[in-house]
Formats: sequence, structure tokens, C-alpha cells
Amino acid sequence: MRFEEKASGYHAHAAPQRRFAEALAAFAPFAPGDRVTELGAGTGFLTRALLAQGAVVDASDASPAMVAVGREAAPSATWSVQDAFGELFPCHNLATSGMLQWAPDPAAVLRRWRAAVHPGGRLLLGVPCEPGFRELRALAGEGPLHWRDEAQWLRLLRRGGWDVRGSAVLEHREAYPSALDFLRTLHESGVTGEPRLSVGEMRSLLREYARRFPSPFGGGVVATWAWLMVDAH
Ligand SMILES: C[S@@+](CC[C@H](N)C(=O)[O-])C[C@H]1O[C@@H](n2cnc3c(N)ncnc32)[C@H](O)[C@@H]1O
Repeated sequence: MRFEEKASGYHAHAAPQRRFAEALAAFAPFAPGDRVTELGAGTGFLTRALLAQGAVVDASDASPAMVAVGREAAPSATWSVQDAFGELFPCHNLATSGMLQWAPDPAAVLRRWRAAVHPGGRLLLGVPCEPGFRELRALAGEGPLHWRDEAQWLRLLRRGGWDVRGSAVLEHREAYPSALDFLRTLHESGVTGEPRLSVGEMRSLLREYARRFPSPFGGGVVATWAWLMVDAH
């Protein structure tokens, strides 16, 4: 992932992430005045949705460049640079979207988060899950992420000491003008790492993608996005 490098482009190239953050906030809303610590806040998509509910938001991200963009986009939150996978200060509630999937040991992170949240507080969690990007993964392999389904994520949450009160998977298919446009969008939003394919391999991937996954909505290709939303206490 290259979020630090791509922070200025993330906001413009992350429409599915923005729509998901808004859906996540609506899935288990906070009450006006609730204090929420947001981790991996990026450029502030979820931050803005939480602020619109009247929550008081402390937003943070490991990337200083993301924090700089987020501070402009959601100035009524307080912003700081913080590694969400390390120790956290005690807090009332946690919220995070699109970040926990990058943790090498999510169960350990979830345990630390549970220890940091006051009794009675909660975690609003959004993560990509199966069958997200199934088309790309069928052609290019699994990449840097370990993809989990809903049951696997819920098991990790329970192992981390969380009581899951509600969960749902949001799955949608996005159309792109071409496979190259789809990959560019991922690249420009910082989601991809160093290119692993040669030019020839990339050409053949793009050809196969267009052949096997044409858009049913017209020209171009489709990509499946899938997200898990969890309300845990
Ligand atoms: C896909 S973006 C999601 C951003 C935002 N939550 C959203 O929904 O648009 C992932 C974010 O997680 C941040 N991130 C990754 N690892 C992190 C860590 N260990 N601690 C804090 N932030 C991290 C990245 O810098 C990036 O801003």
C-alpha cells in the first residue's frame, strides 16, 4: 500500500470507499455528543459522516500526508498521526473503515482496542471482505492482503474480546471503462503496492479481465466490492 504517497489523490479516486464509509456510519449511528476515536481515518470520509451525526471525533492516521488532507476535509474533528496497530490511549468509542485488513495480526490489534475502550463503549468496524475483487484475484492471485469472509472476521472479533451486536455484508458491482481504468483507480487510491507483473504479464491480465469480466451495464469491465460492517461492544 502507498497511502502516504497517494494521499492527495485518494479523495478523488476512492468513490466506493466514500460510499461505504457513509453506509457504515448509517449502519450503527452514534448519538449526538458521543466521543469517537477514529483510526486510519484517511482523508476523512467516515469522519465527516460521524461529525454529521453530531459525534465529537478524534481522527488519526499513520500517514502524515493523509492527516494533512483529512484536516482540510473535516476541520471540526481533531486530527493526529497515530499507528492504530500499536498501543492506544483509553477512549470512549472506536470507529474505523478500510484499515484493519492491513494488520499482520488483527486478533492482537482487536484485543488491544478492546482494552483501550471504556466499559460501555463500542467499536464501529468496516473492512473489505470476501468476495471483494474476486475477478482480479482470480487472474492475479491473492496479492498482499489476506481475504477473510464474514464468519472469519467475526471469529477474530470474538477472540479479541468483542461482543458482536450486529453485522452485515455490503456487496456491489462497479463498472469501469476498462480493466486498465480499474487498476489505475486502485493504484491512485494507494491500495496497490509495487507492481509485481512484467509489462507482458500486465497486458495479458488486462486482456483476460476484459474477456472474462465484461460489464453487463454496457462497455468496459466490472469489479465486485464487498465490505463487512460490524457493531461490537
Ligand atoms: C483504504 S484507506 C481508508 C481511509 C478511510 N478510513 C476511508 O474509509 O476512506 C486506509 C487508511 O489506513 C491507514 N493506515 C494503514 N495502516 C495504518 C496503521 N497501522 N495505523 C493507522 N492508520 C493506518 C492508511 O494510511 C490509510 O489512510
